Amino acid sequence: MPQDINDKTRIRPKVAVLGAGTMGAGIAGVFAAQGYPVAVYSRSAETLDKAKSRIVPIAGEAAVTYTTSIADCVTGAGIVSENLAEDVTLKQRIFGEVEALAPADCLLTTNTSSVPITLIAAGLARPERVVGIHWFNPPAVMPLVEIVRGEKTSDEVVDRARALCADIGKDVIEVKTDIAGFVVNRLQYAILREALHLVEVGAASIEDVDRAVETTLAPRWSAAGPLRLMDMAGLDTVEKVSRILMPALDRSEGIPSLVSRLCEEGAFGTKSGRGFYDWTAEEVAAAIARRDDTVRLLTERRKA
Ligand SMILES: NC(=O)c1ccc[n+]([C@@H]2O[C@H](COP(=O)([O-])OP(=O)(O)OC[C@H]3O[C@@H](n4cnc5c(N)ncnc54)[C@H](O)[C@@H]3O)[C@@H](O)[C@H]2O)c1
Repeated sequence: MPQDINDKTRIRPKVAVLGAGTMGAGIAGVFAAQGYPVAVYSRSAETLDKAKSRIVPIAGEAAVTYTTSIADCVTGAGIVSENLAEDVTLKQRIFGEVEALAPADCLLTTNTSSVPITLIAAGLARPERVVGIHWFNPPAVMPLVEIVRGEKTSDEVVDRARALCADIGKDVIEVKTDIAGFVVNRLQYAILREALHLVEVGAASIEDVDRAVETTLAPRWSAAGPLRLMDMAGLDTVEKVSRILMPALDRSEGIPSLVSRLCEEGAFGTKSGRGFYDWTAEEVAAAIARRDDTVRLLTERRKA
């Protein structure tokens, strides 16, 4: 008899989390906190130790096992969440191994940010089982995931992915075609391109571009998305402004030179203490706490 998804005492399937880095550890924490038995795979015991120190604060000493064997991780799993490095050959190889080891009805999900799901599933005997569940960092805080269909992903697999995300309390948007960047990163990078252009041409300072988003666009977008806001602004006005503004926006296709220059200097952002801004360890911790608190606050507000 199928189990009632609303029954919080039901037995949940084992989740095999492949990769124990930034996303793997966070996602393992989310599933474990929701009562799923979780196995985490990484190549090295050292990475697994680090992952454990990030999982315990999210999920406590919940049922999580740590292993350096893919076979041990996926054997008996009902769900696989792949979070290995963003490398198409690696993902294809790992899914090839997983397909042979995991149960036939196991849901195979990948957290790729940019590799087409269709490509990851291409060499598999049953590509219809593979679906993108694209999370955002930090997984325990961000409310949304994108469910991404590959060309061969079955409707049943998409439905199972939706039910799974609902069960762990995540909002879902469905990306119906396997396009690069899906929805959220496409929107984000459209803004990043223009933000970098404004700084590069000297139209505004780094601080002022950030302030424009933090004070105006982000709070408004949290209440209403861009299409709803266009309705509220008046589409006749949007039409008039578009005529002037669309041709003026940056349309460069390469890697933004401001970013390349900083990377050449070893200025990678908070992780190296310098990016567009200089960062002390205390400032990094405060910025992360502020980001996470703000997301939690706005999420609660949106649900109310
Ligand atoms: N960081 C983000 O904000 C974010 C958000 C959404 C999706 N993603 C995606 O999630 C995935 C993981 O990203 P991350 O940020 O956690 O990366 P990460 O570098 O923190 O972790 C990657 C993991 O892959 C392992 N790995 C690398 N090469 C391997 C190999 N050859 N064999 C086995 N394991 C290997 C590493 O040891 C590490 O555990 C990527 O596909 C990324 O695009 C990242």
